[in-house]
Amino acid sequence: MLAPASVSDYRELAKRRLPQLMFDYLDGGAFEEATLQANRLDLQKLSLKQKVLRDVSSLDTSVTLFGQKMELPLILAPVGFAGMMARRAEVQAAKAAQTVGIPFTLSTVGICPIEEVRRAVTTPFWFQLYMMRDRGVVREILSRAQAAQCGALVFTVDLPVLGTRYRDIRNGMGVKLPLFSRLRMAANFASRPSWIYDVGVKGQPLTFGNLAGVVQDAKSLGALLHWTTTALDPSVTWKDLEWIRSIWKGPLILKGVLDADDAKEAAATGADGLVVSNHGGRQLDAARSSISMLPRIVDAVGDRTVVLMDGGIRSGQDVTRALALGARACLIGRAWVYGVAAKGEAGVVSVLETMKRELRTSMALIGASRIGDINRAVIES
Ligand code: GLV
Repeated sequence: MLAPASVSDYRELAKRRLPQLMFDYLDGGAFEEATLQANRLDLQKLSLKQKVLRDVSSLDTSVTLFGQKMELPLILAPVGFAGMMARRAEVQAAKAAQTVGIPFTLSTVGICPIEEVRRAVTTPFWFQLYMMRDRGVVREILSRAQAAQCGALVFTVDLPVLGTRYRDIRNGMGVKLPLFSRLRMAANFASRPSWIYDVGVKGQPLTFGNLAGVVQDAKSLGALLHWTTTALDPSVTWKDLEWIRSIWKGPLILKGVLDADDAKEAAATGADGLVVSNHGGRQLDAARSSISMLPRIVDAVGDRTVVLMDGGIRSGQDVTRALALGARACLIGRAWVYGVAAKGEAGVVSVLETMKRELRTSMALIGASRIGDINRAVIES
């Protein structure tokens, strides 16, 4: 490949650059990966209606959500461990998002801490929260996000327990491996010297920056992942959402809603937005795809809360499809991490510019000059 043309090409480049265990963690999903695949397949099934002679000489891809103007209806999703895929990846991605004019969301379990990201950019980024058993730690982290003037809080609710990912198990994550397997793994890491230099040498410290003091420097991705399974609180309920609502003053977005009744409860509890999501097919395998559940959630709460979606978005055409079914914007997770793993900050900018070009072209060919012109009528029945 002489030049990457699409997000899938960036995926290919990331695969070549990352140790297999890292790539599989990023790329994979839960159990049989049926939901992971459904997210993509159900998007691809939606046909857009080609329309002609509509004067599309002036296109505007911007949207305003939660009082914030975005140049594209896209948000960089929170991705745990991103800083293990590229050197200080959260900082690189936040800078790229700023260049393109969209929000970046920092994960609770990112490698870079809130303050490091804050220093790197001048526009507000968003912060994602996992509920931890220790509410003191949660309170503290929220006050740091508030101090950093994060533009929104994304509270992820679809991970009370960690989904079982066969690829991670097969790669020996969290398992004490026999010597021969360890040698094989070491050989695989050794075959990725540019990653070792970029991340292993220049990307230190490789720990959860937001949780310094709470979690020790872990020796491996598996060890950190294991820590999350003990620290996250599976007893979390709607009452906790009320508690967070009472202490977080800015926009509050609930991520991981896949059911219309849950969406109604979220809106009633004061969530300003929600993300229709199955965690990128990484949690409940056999759950429906995000895009297939989007319309009924929009019908249930779209007039009361801002409905966003993620899961399988890889192109501007996919963004068009999701907006057509009522999403106000999409989150992308793997897509930006492929970009940063392949080519750092420039790779994320390039992924976003690729998607922007695709979105503009799709808008022109369906006869939509503005994001607001994209509605259910643009889907071919
Ligand atoms: C964590 O959020 C994961 O999906 O691995």
